[in-house]
Amino acid sequence: MPEGERDGGGAAAVLICVAWPYANSPLHAGQIAGAYLPADIVARYHRMRGHRTLMVSGSDAHGTPVTVRAEQEGTTPEAVFRRFHESFLDTWRRFGISFDLFTSTDTENHVAVSQDIFLRLREGGYLHEAEQTLLYDPVVKRFLPDRYVEGSCPRCGDDGARGDQCDACGSTLDALELVNPRSRLSDATPEPRSSTHFFLRLPAFTERLLAWVEGQEHWRPAVRNFTLGQLRDGLTDRAITRDIEWGVPVPVAGYEKKRIYVWFEAVIGYLSATREWAQSSGDPEAWKAFWTDPSCRTIYFQGKDNVPFHTMIWPAMLMGYGDLNLPYDVPANQYVTISGSKASSSRNWAVWMPDYLDRHDPDPLRYVLTAVMPETSDSDFTWADYVRRVNDELLARWGNLVHRVLTLTRRHFDGRAPGAPDGLAPASRALLERADAAFDEAADHLEAVRLRAALGVPMALAGEANRYLEERAPWAAVREDRAHAAETLSTALNVISAIATLLEPFLPFTSPEAWRMVGHDSDIERAGWRRTDVTPGAPLPEPRPLFRKLDEALVDEEEARLGEGS
Ligand code: MF3
Ligand code: ZN
Repeated sequence: MPEGERDGGGAAAVLICVAWPYANSPLHAGQIAGAYLPADIVARYHRMRGHRTLMVSGSDAHGTPVTVRAEQEGTTPEAVFRRFHESFLDTWRRFGISFDLFTSTDTENHVAVSQDIFLRLREGGYLHEAEQTLLYDPVVKRFLPDRYVEGSCPRCGDDGARGDQCDACGSTLDALELVNPRSRLSDATPEPRSSTHFFLRLPAFTERLLAWVEGQEHWRPAVRNFTLGQLRDGLTDRAITRDIEWGVPVPVAGYEKKRIYVWFEAVIGYLSATREWAQSSGDPEAWKAFWTDPSCRTIYFQGKDNVPFHTMIWPAMLMGYGDLNLPYDVPANQYVTISGSKASSSRNWAVWMPDYLDRHDPDPLRYVLTAVMPETSDSDFTWADYVRRVNDELLARWGNLVHRVLTLTRRHFDGRAPGAPDGLAPASRALLERADAAFDEAADHLEAVRLRAALGVPMALAGEANRYLEERAPWAAVREDRAHAAETLSTALNVISAIATLLEPFLPFTSPEAWRMVGHDSDIERAGWRRTDVTPGAPLPEPRPLFRKLDEALVDEEEARLGEGS
């Protein structure tokens, strides 16, 4: 296939953008299932497909989640951000999240790109200055960032709303709209005071956004309908500067004491990170293939609370800036609860990734989180389900298939892959045809970001391979009819090779092992999205179990950790 040409299905270039995590706490499994794991699976799939693929994100160094934590710890926001940035990098490495670049918003490049966008939007007439009435805490004598104010949601009445949004109903809010506001710094009732700020004229984009979103029929219904609803209600101007000290400076005289609002600059990170990646790749223009070539697909992965920023605000900024690609898809996930309750740092109700990775293997959790991925509704993670899925699905259906076929083949065929006779039996042919069809079937699901369904394809194929083995019983056949057994085991090896390829995006630690066990010495990531048959006569290494059988006692041990020490 000539470079850059479509190979059917997908696009020639794919930019995978993943939400920038606030660098104020370690990552937990809910965030991973919401954004990082789906992004990684899709990126790995496109790379295997031979598409030009770039996956970027970085630590969100700014914002009140970081400054609140610094205040609690009596340290600087920078120290907090650096500590958790290191923690994120460690989690990506140990969990196999394959970023091409994971940078941060605390770089000169990001400041420059953010200020450029700010100034271009200002020149285009999309920003205006106005006096803004803000909440001021009379006790600590400071303007209060949105997140420092809590109160009741004016839309749904929930009492846990913050000044930027309500998690209960998903509305984005203005702190002044909160009913019964209170300051998180002092508990005082904040008072309104005036300050001059820049505003983004979102209403100028409403019509264009509406027309664009209406055309995005491939979006998830929840994302598209939510966005259309908000657009039809109409957008309002939004302040994009703040009275704070930690953040990107506003490139305008008189604004020395103010900073660009974290959400305005964090979304710019997708562009600034691509430019940073291009700089360090040695081709500073390489970012353009992802941002100005309209055939590139840009996919934004995140949890549902981030949707408005990626379907309205960032697209509006891109429209105002001009000549940059709009999102192709925003496959936002719903939430994963843990044993029935919402994940919470303060109650220590979470599966913390550094902690998990100290005690367990990455692929079993990648498997379980994909199997319960909250693609259309909230879903629940329990340790009992984790143990069941690892033992009964991953190990019983897939791990044992590999182990059984390898052990039998090595024993009866001299440690080498047997050749298949010409003219296969109908059952063997049918299984190989199923394997071939699985690539297109899984590809359709992966392109549409239906990852639960995509994972189901190789798992169903493994089930069929097991049934095929039961029917052909090569362990018995080998005594009377060696050719029959050779056909069965060679067919099984080729199907295992196909399943390993199909599982690689999901299980990047164990799939390459299965691949090597069937006798390949090539790189699975370069195998292409197709069945690669095993070379007859290839030496088969001694199989090692791909997965450890889990003890039921693990359920109680892990459940006891939930909520502990909070
Ligand atoms: N830091 C935000 C959060 O964790 C997400 C930012 S996504 C971005 O909720 F697009 F703005 F970067
Ligand atoms: Zn609400």
